[in-house]
Amino acid sequence: MLSQPCKSIVDLVQFFKDNQVVKVLDYGAGKLRNSIYLLNKGFKVYACDTEKQIRKINSLMEVNEFPYLINESQLMSHRLNVDLVVSNYVLNIIEDDNDKLKYIKNTYNSLKKRGYLLLEVRRRTERTPRGCTKAFTKKELNNFILNCNFEKLKDYSSKRSVVFLYQKNGL
Ligand SMILES: C[S@@+](CC[C@H](N)C(=O)[O-])C[C@H]1O[C@@H](n2cnc3c(N)ncnc32)[C@H](O)[C@@H]1O
Repeated sequence: MLSQPCKSIVDLVQFFKDNQVVKVLDYGAGKLRNSIYLLNKGFKVYACDTEKQIRKINSLMEVNEFPYLINESQLMSHRLNVDLVVSNYVLNIIEDDNDKLKYIKNTYNSLKKRGYLLLEVRRRTERTPRGCTKAFTKKELNNFILNCNFEKLKDYSSKRSVVFLYQKNGL
């Protein structure tokens, strides 16, 4: 059975509809729980993940059951120009800082002007082991993203996750 979509996405569906979001990129889509939820809500959804994960998804699904699957190494050649990128628990599993930056840069380049980014990561707490790179405080996430030409609109963080809604700055 498909697991539940992220609460952050469920809570923001109406905001996305009210703000003319049509095309969405689920960047680091995993087992497609959020992609399928958004597809069923009427959005046009592109799901992007690593080659290994895409192979896994294809082996679990009927051919073409999910029409827009993108291998992350080819994402930039698609020039998607989406209204929204959803990124849930991806940035916190990318270990290398340069790879993190590349991921955010690709996000920026996949968005249309003034497009939205919903970014959710595991939250660093007092229980997180010292030196662990797989979690963020609000400040760490904010500092990282604000250098990448996004403006923060809202904070939907919870005890376990940091969740920010950003908007791409115009040039
Ligand atoms: C913890 S899972 C989260 C999946 C999904 N977003 C969710 O909330 O269910 C992280 C996913 O990010 C993918 N991933 C890791 N690095 C990536 C990258 N550079 N580009 C795209 N996907 C990546 C992994 O393969 C994995 O499927």
